[in-house]
Amino acid sequence: MAPVSPRLTPAMQVLTAAVTKAGKRLLRDFGEVEQLQVSVKGPGDFVSQADLRSEETLRQELTRARPNFAFLMEESGVSGAEDWEWRWVIDPLDGTTNFLHGIPHWAISAGVERRISPEKTELVAGCVYNPASDEMFWAEKGVGAFLNDRRLRVSGRRDMLQAVFATGIPFAGVPRKAEFSAILNRIMPQVAGVRRFGAAALDLCWTAAGRYEGYWEIGLKPWDCAAGIVILREAGGVVTDPDGEDPWPSGNIVAGNPNLHPKLREIVAEGIAAARTAAPRAG
Ligand code: IPD
Ligand code: CA
Ligand code: CA
Repeated sequence: MAPVSPRLTPAMQVLTAAVTKAGKRLLRDFGEVEQLQVSVKGPGDFVSQADLRSEETLRQELTRARPNFAFLMEESGVSGAEDWEWRWVIDPLDGTTNFLHGIPHWAISAGVERRISPEKTELVAGCVYNPASDEMFWAEKGVGAFLNDRRLRVSGRRDMLQAVFATGIPFAGVPRKAEFSAILNRIMPQVAGVRRFGAAALDLCWTAAGRYEGYWEIGLKPWDCAAGIVILREAGGVVTDPDGEDPWPSGNIVAGNPNLHPKLREIVAEGIAAARTAAPRAG
């Protein structure tokens, strides 16, 4: 198991233990996937099964420990009490395309959402575990963000020319390609680099760890970003939508260190506006 901090509260102990168990199983499956690359059919069906097994392991472990918590999970949707106060928001395998191709950059993402009024919820805790690197990113609101037992802090860079940003590139069947191109065209000449590693939850955590200065992606699902939003904020980062509003639960994410988030947000907002002006209905 990843060496997590003795500061873990009981709720985080439950969460990290469940995620570690599901992660070990996924790592065994990942070993199989590497063998299946050469087969004609490829590992598609096997990976779908691994994804479902991961979700089921998490459901069983978390239900046993916290029977009154509801779930929002990528594969099975919502379950548990409708009048929930606490809810797990879970992606049992983030970075599926990487997993499928034998690329060791994928994770389990699990956030904790609390209802604060009939209409409003907030994110209060989360963990993102990459079993291939044995990196457990975790945070609780007001406690701080950690990578295993080490405190996390966003980078201090202020200069765009030295900054590295991550993003998610739209792929076949996904809209907003014109918006993405408009944003990329604007940011490329201003920065040291743009990366696309392929796991949104890890992109938020890597920004929290100061590996990138920022990250943007439009149209994420709640399970992609619930845990990462808490982790980034607790590491001193800023995360909003392109208009500067709370990105939860819209999934329109602009994240960064406090020095460079305003500039990144401006570029993303300008790119979106320009694409919409050029072709209001373009995908
Ligand atoms: C995807 C990954 C990817 C992001 C996509 C997500 P999945 O999640 O996080 O990096 O660009 O928007 O859907 O499908 O691998 O769980
Ligand atoms: Ca995902
Ligand atoms: Ca997934």
